[in-house]
Amino acid sequence: MIELKGVNRLFGEGGAVKALADVSLLIGRGERVAVMGPSGSGKSTLLNLVCGLDEPTSGAILIDGINLAELNDDARTRLRREKIGMIFQTFNLLPTLTACENVALPLRLQGIGKGQAERRATAMLERVGLADRLAHRPDQLSGGERQRIAIARALIFDPPVLLADEPTGNLDSQTGDEILRLLDRLHDELNTTILLVTHNEDAALFCDRILRLRDGEVVREEHLRKAAR
Ligand SMILES: Nc1ncnc2c1ncn2[C@@H]1O[C@H](COP(=O)(O)OP(=O)(O)OP(=O)(O)O)[C@@H](O)[C@H]1O
Ligand SMILES: [Mg+2]
Repeated sequence: MIELKGVNRLFGEGGAVKALADVSLLIGRGERVAVMGPSGSGKSTLLNLVCGLDEPTSGAILIDGINLAELNDDARTRLRREKIGMIFQTFNLLPTLTACENVALPLRLQGIGKGQAERRATAMLERVGLADRLAHRPDQLSGGERQRIAIARALIFDPPVLLADEPTGNLDSQTGDEILRLLDRLHDELNTTILLVTHNEDAALFCDRILRLRDGEVVREEHLRKAAR
């Protein structure tokens, strides 16, 4: 489903910062993988590369056997929109749009009419428990509510792949647990492949595998037994 082959991502002059160093990975359909590691270890860089928002300095990334480097910009954008849901560390909600409009936006960008897009967005916001916040703008919502809008937007196409950058990082433990249960349900219903960046060991236990990054390298990999969840 997701394959990385010898991926390097360097930043800065002369490639002074090695954000990712020779990372090779194979993640199967429906697998849930937690990505852990200290600040600056390359976690967000990894997600940005997998969703095609950023390109590796060297190495290849394949989604369903398709090499991202071989797609033109349009095809890559379409693949990202339809196949990959991304929950950003900073949410990236548009401040002037309501909750419903934010969630409907990917559908609108895909040419779906306003009425249908907003009906689907409403149904998705109901799934994340925000049916009564449809017309609120992000600045009128709590951090946890914004987080859930970002999740609803990421899931609007029922994507086979979900990339989540600390989706419970800004939430109290109860709301965080609700989000994890939501991801669990999604996984059960749609066999979603999930890459979950987290600093929280409990959240990582929700996954099938834990990757630990340090200085851009995968330094440890732990396979958890599903029964242990
Ligand atoms: N656009 C960029 N330009 C230059 N350096 C960058 C850029 N993006 C990331 N880096 C550097 O790459 C390294 C990895 O960054 P990354 O954002 O992937 O870390 P992270 O593991 O997500 O950290 P955090 O837990 O703080 O979110 C860091 O040293 C960072 O400063
Ligand atoms: Mg990060």
